[in-house]
Formats: sequence, C-alpha cells, structure tokens
Amino acid sequence: MENSRSGFYFLVLCCASLLFPTCCSSKHIPLFIFGDSFFEAGNNNYIRNATGRANFWPYGETFFKYPTGRFSDGRVIPDFIAEYAKLPFIPPYLQPGNHQITDGVNFASGGAGALAQTRPAGSVIDLKTQAIYFKNVERQISQKLGDTETKKLLSKAIYMFNIGSNDYVAPFTTNSSLLQAYSRKEYVGMVIGNTTTVIKEIYRNGGRKFVFVSTGPLGCLPYLRASNKNGTRGCMDEVTLFSKLHNSALIEALKELQTQLRGFKYSYFDFYTSLSERIKHHSKYGFEKGKVACCGSGPYRGILSCGGRGAEEYQLCDNPSDYLFFDGGHLTEKANNQLAKLMWSGNSTVIWPYNLKTLFQE
Ligand SMILES: *[C@@H]1O[C@H](CO)[C@@H](O)[C@H](O)[C@H]1NC(C)=O
Ligand SMILES: *[C@@H]1O[C@H](CO)[C@@H](O)[C@H](O)[C@H]1NC(C)=O
Ligand SMILES: *[C@@H]1O[C@H](CO)[C@@H](O)[C@H](O)[C@H]1NC(C)=O
Ligand SMILES: *[C@@H]1O[C@H](CO)[C@@H](O)[C@H](O)[C@H]1NC(C)=O
Ligand SMILES: *[C@@H]1O[C@H](CO)[C@@H](O)[C@H](O)[C@H]1NC(C)=O
Repeated sequence: MENSRSGFYFLVLCCASLLFPTCCSSKHIPLFIFGDSFFEAGNNNYIRNATGRANFWPYGETFFKYPTGRFSDGRVIPDFIAEYAKLPFIPPYLQPGNHQITDGVNFASGGAGALAQTRPAGSVIDLKTQAIYFKNVERQISQKLGDTETKKLLSKAIYMFNIGSNDYVAPFTTNSSLLQAYSRKEYVGMVIGNTTTVIKEIYRNGGRKFVFVSTGPLGCLPYLRASNKNGTRGCMDEVTLFSKLHNSALIEALKELQTQLRGFKYSYFDFYTSLSERIKHHSKYGFEKGKVACCGSGPYRGILSCGGRGAEEYQLCDNPSDYLFFDGGHLTEKANNQLAKLMWSGNSTVIWPYNLKTLFQE
C-alpha cells in the first residue's frame, strides 16, 4: 500500500515535470553570477566607457575562436560550472536579445568592486548595481512564472560571487588615494560590509544557496609584479596582505550569516591556496610557465597590453595551455577548467562546507 502510493506520487511528479520542464523539474537550477573580470562573459562590451574589455583578438582564441568579452583565451570558471550543472552558457545581462533568464544571468563586469569608488562612475557595473539588475531579472521571471513559482525557482538557484580583488588592487595601481582615509581593517570591513548587504538583499528576494570564491594571492599576479617599483619585480606583499585579511573576514562573515539567516547555505572556495599552489608548483599541474603571462608586455608580460589596446607592442605565446596566466591579471582556459573542477567536486580541503555538486543538489 505504502509503496504503490509513493509510486503514484512519483508518476504525478514525473508528468508535471514533463509538462512544465522549465519550472518544475528538480534538475533545473538557475545560476546567477556576480563579480569582476574573472567571471565576466561580456557585459563590458556594452558599456561605452568600460574600464576594461576583452572583446578583441586574441581573447577567446582557443575555444570560441572569436572574442566574446571573456578575459581568457577560452572559457571562464562560470562556463565550466554551467556545463557541469547541465546548463547552457549563461548570457551577460547587458547582451541584447531574448534570453532564457530562468537558466540564470551573468551580471559580472571586469574592473568591478564591492566599493563604488573603486572605479569612476559608469565605467563598470559595481556590485550594488549588479544587485539592482538582479532585481530587474526577478521581476521579469515573476511576470513569466508568477510569484509562487518564482520563489521556488529562486530558492533553488545558485548565486555565485567573485568580488573584492579590484577593491584591493586599484589603490596600488590606478588610484592611490582610495586607501588614504582608512586603516587596512576598516577598508576590508567596508568591502565585506557591502558584500554582506548584497547577500542579505538576495536572501530577502528568496535566494538561499551562495558560492564565494576567495581572493587570490593578488600581489603575485603578473600585473602586480610588473607594477612593483621596489626593484625586485617580486610579489607585492602589501596587496597580498589585503587578500589574506579579506578571506579571513569573509569566512567569519559567512559563518555569521549562517546563524542569522534561516536556510542560508554557502560554499567557500579557497582560490587563494589553489592558485598559490599552481604558481609555485606549475609543472605538477601541467603548466610550463607559472609566473609569466601568455599575452602582454614588460616584466612577466604583466603589463595589460594584450591585443594591443594598451600599448602598441605585446607578445603572445604559441600555446596558452602551457601557461597558468593568459594576461597579466587573468588565467588561461586550462587553469580555469582545473579550478572549476575543484569547485564542482573537490573535497573539503579546497571547498567547504559543500562542493558545488552537492550544493546544486541540496
Ligand atoms: C564617457 O566618457 C566621456 C569622456 O570622459 C564623457 O564625456 C561621457 O559622458 C562618458 N559617457 C558615459 C556614458 O558615461
Ligand atoms: C580616487 O579615489 C578618490 C577617493 O575615493 C576619489 O575621490 C577620486 O575621485 C578617485 N579618482 C579617480 C580618478 O577615480
Ligand atoms: C559600502 O560601504 C560604504 C562604506 O561603509 C558605504 O558608505 C556604502 O553605503 C556601502 N554601499 C553599499 C551598497 O552597501
Ligand atoms: C616596497 O618595499 C618597501 C620597503 O621594503 C615596503 O615597505 C613596501 O610595502 C613595498 N611595497 C609594496 C607595494 O610591496
Ligand atoms: C583532498 O584532495 C586532495 C587532492 O586531491 C588530497 O591530497 C587530500 O588527501 C584530500 N583530503 C581529504 C581530507 O580527503
């Protein structure tokens, strides 16, 4: 009796999911992407005064064979995560045309930070504006599916963040007065505070499952090494210190949010350690070069001239998959693939409390 009854419900659920595949299938989980150039898929192509863009050759040369606006020779981390989750590529919010927004939207923008002042107004989509755009999308989904289905869909959705790096790099590269009025602790507190505000807003709108990528060893990016005026062209330890402070504060903030917000679930990816390992032991991970970028100029090809937009002269390597870094601030597709795999199915030494495979199923 008990068995035949559950069999009946199973049949009803299957029929419902066949009739309404986009809203009722338990497998259908949207992916919303927030952040900076590590996650961008082309929003800045549509910003007239964008701080940075990657919509020219050789960006995209390996996989897409044309420049899409992704800061890599090929796919970026969210592309691989979407693939593992059996979703299509998630389109940039600003890209014209009709999108299947119930699969998710990518709000990330190269140069963006959690602090509005990190970039001149209008040159990036900062985190706060990304959250406003998300609300627009929520309204559009509501008009399509109604409030009840939208709530269900948004509570199953994954909200993935990569934010903070630009807030810590900009004071050492583009605007030295950003830090002037603040101690390190205050500045990190502002970045975390603004990020927390956005998380809470998405939670209020029904979001429950969040993913955070830690900041990397920022001072060791080829771009920062090339900017190091200390003579050694070594890592800029002062920038890396901000990254460490940020990551500790982020872990604390996430634990705190979990006690405050009922049903809040998160994954924290230790990108810092995973990238440091690959810089140090590049050959162990299949890279011939771990410090110098494939495309750019100057020390470590760290000057952001890839494609000739910054300076006339630049060098381009023959085989990006020999390199960890594609340009002075961004990774090759091969590196992105390795990291996305760790996020998807890595164990609790790299991603915790859940890996993404588990978080998608939760
Ligand atoms: C872009 O920058 C130019 C020059 O600084 C400025 O005149 C213009 O208003 C800006 N446009 C937008 C859309 O912000
Ligand atoms: C640099 O940062 C300061 C402090 O936030 C700000 O007042 C100034 O407008 C910024 N300059 C540029 C060029 O963005
Ligand atoms: C970001 O932090 C600054 C400093 O605490 C604050 O003035 C600003 O209102 C915050 N913005 C958001 C969107 O939370
Ligand atoms: C450059 O070196 C000085 C002296 O060792 C140090 O105080 C400073 O933090 C270094 N700058 C950077 C950006 O690492
Ligand atoms: C986690 O994975 C790493 C790399 O695959 C492995 O070296 C380590 O032993 C694993 N740790 C645990 C606790 O399973």
